[in-house]
Amino acid sequence: VGIAKFTQRMPLAPVLQPYLTTSTTSYYRMNLKEASKEIVPGLTTRLRTFNGSFPGPVIKAESGRRVVVRQTNSLSVPTSIHLHGAHVPQDSDGSPMDLIEPDGGTKTYTYPNTQPHANLWFHDHAHHMESENVFRGMTGTYVLTDDIERRLRLPSGAYDIPVSLRDARFAQNGELIYEMGDFRKRNVILANGKSWPYFEVAARKYRFRLTNTANQRFFALRLADGSELVQIGTDGGLLPSPYRTDTVAISPGERADVVIDFSRYPVGTTIELVNKDVAPFESADLVGKVIQFRVTRTAHDDSVVPDTLRTLPPLPAASVNRSVDMKMDETGSPGSQAYINGKTYDMDRIDTEIAYGATEIWTVKNSNQFAPHNFHMHLVQFRVLERNGQPVTSGPETGLKDTVPLKPGETVKVQATFTGYRGTYVYHCHLFDHGAMGMMANMRIS
Ligand code: C2O
Ligand code: CU
Repeated sequence: VGIAKFTQRMPLAPVLQPYLTTSTTSYYRMNLKEASKEIVPGLTTRLRTFNGSFPGPVIKAESGRRVVVRQTNSLSVPTSIHLHGAHVPQDSDGSPMDLIEPDGGTKTYTYPNTQPHANLWFHDHAHHMESENVFRGMTGTYVLTDDIERRLRLPSGAYDIPVSLRDARFAQNGELIYEMGDFRKRNVILANGKSWPYFEVAARKYRFRLTNTANQRFFALRLADGSELVQIGTDGGLLPSPYRTDTVAISPGERADVVIDFSRYPVGTTIELVNKDVAPFESADLVGKVIQFRVTRTAHDDSVVPDTLRTLPPLPAASVNRSVDMKMDETGSPGSQAYINGKTYDMDRIDTEIAYGATEIWTVKNSNQFAPHNFHMHLVQFRVLERNGQPVTSGPETGLKDTVPLKPGETVKVQATFTGYRGTYVYHCHLFDHGAMGMMANMRIS
């Protein structure tokens, strides 16, 4: 299908309002339901949504204040709602087996928000369903803020924009086509639920909180003229100091918090945000294009990006070392399996027993020759110590992370402290098709 680019405005996801607020807690309700939206110009697409919006709504939360969300599942498929990157008790984690029954089932999730500020997001996690449910629309944004972040004078309000990026595949009639593992054909890029939108900006600094909600696509984002992007944050909030770069890379599930200063452009300039992570079998004219920014006016700007953003907690000494091997069948045939340490996911098996309070170093390897993976752990924000044997001393991986990319053959060493809650949580590849194919395991903290 020939889809016109840059003809639709990039919308902002609606901010969800609590129906009740007490001194400690904000209460929200969401209805999981089908809805039809115009994603590509002139066609409508049926979606599985949070509250009928695509992408789903934004919840604005604060560290130290509890959020309670009651989800009603009006879809005809089971769901499980996971708040990605959050430190929560097991019964509110939205684990793959903790399902909300279809056709009216409900579940109430409690998010204590005892962690510092972070760019979180929520999505379906029902085992074997998550890949299709997310592809059909089930994602939303959860911005957790705190005093550390608020004290800074970063771009805020109308200049602080959450953006969900992903790809999709459409039939001629506008309906989504989902086939597990067919990532080669997902060649339409969506930003906040529109194909290749434009976004009008003032000639000043903006903060974009980017989430990669794609099933399998990795993005390497650049401004077409190669000018500076200032990455200020990652999965678990702000970096210690800003990282000035020309390319911001995010794999599925990862977040990047990026400041772009449009004051370098005269009013009237258009500048594209492009994607450089284009496979040889893909068209750069399709998947290489993302958003067109249009500088339409000047504006006052008293925001600043300071040289020091935050201080990270010190790294305690680790007492346990483990290794995790990620590998999948690379034939690509239907029924292919994906493995962690040689095993596909079994909900009844505990793969990793962890002592409550332990600090551990996990060495995670992608043993595939062609397939990229990434590694995501529930419950914790971890630190990346090494990538391919080299210590990580600069760049986005110096921040708090919950998801790290692993290109074929790569190894990362991560460190986490398992405290706060006991229980069983998953770790997995965040390429949703791979998780659904079994690249997931259980850890039990007790
Ligand atoms: Cu965003 Cu277990 O996932
Ligand atoms: Cu994978």
